[in-house]
Amino acid sequence: MTVTGLLEMKRAGQKIAMLTAYDYYTARMLDECGIDGILVGDSANMVFYGEPNTLSITVDQMIYHTRAVARAVRSALVIADMPFMSYQVNADDALRNAGRFLKEAGATAVKVEGGLNMVPTVKRLIEAGIPVMSHIGLVPQSIHRLGGYGVRGRDDKERAYLVESAQALAEAGSFAIVLEAIRGELAREITQSIPIPTIGIGAGAECDGQILVSNDMLGSFEDFQPKFVRRYANVAEVMRRAFGQYRDDVRNGEFPSDKEGY
Ligand code: KIV
Repeated sequence: MTVTGLLEMKRAGQKIAMLTAYDYYTARMLDECGIDGILVGDSANMVFYGEPNTLSITVDQMIYHTRAVARAVRSALVIADMPFMSYQVNADDALRNAGRFLKEAGATAVKVEGGLNMVPTVKRLIEAGIPVMSHIGLVPQSIHRLGGYGVRGRDDKERAYLVESAQALAEAGSFAIVLEAIRGELAREITQSIPIPTIGIGAGAECDGQILVSNDMLGSFEDFQPKFVRRYANVAEVMRRAFGQYRDDVRNGEFPSDKEGY
């Protein structure tokens, strides 16, 4: 998959399926299953490291995870999430950090949160040959300014800002825009008003594609479940059962058997 491939999918009316991964074996399975885009999200800070939000993860940590994912992937597009404060200070800083994800980690593209305020930075990265996926609506790196993870675009002013931001980011050259936690009608309006794909997460069915945090949809991360998540499995339950069974087998002398050795 390439960034132009995603544009062609939008033009052809084909829905785009993306998920997150932070490690080699998950990325390999996503790739084998035909997932179009794999985001190495800064959600790793919560679901991998157990932090309360995405803010404290560093560029070095994200590069470590991106490298593991990129090593596994044969055809999906690998997008690395730029962590908080790795692109907000100025465009030079953003360019230096974004470049590391392509040079050191093997990503094909980066994601940055923000609307109109990010347009100059997005342009700078694209001019240097770095494809950018934007992210508007609920932007988790601004959690302390927003005051919570609730739905965005609640008043006319914010709705207008989001539409204007999407158009400006598309014009600046972003190859896709994540729309997080906005109502379906607003997502539809944005989707219809820009030529690049919208990738929804809690933004209704009319986006050009969808993304979820893999740990949420697998049911392996149980600390909380956003309203928009569909659970496709209960992996935490499967893991607990397996770990408990192993503990019992060891305690009862039933593992290992004669065949499970040399
Ligand atoms: O970090 C992440 O996983 C994300 C997705 C939720 C879009 O930004």
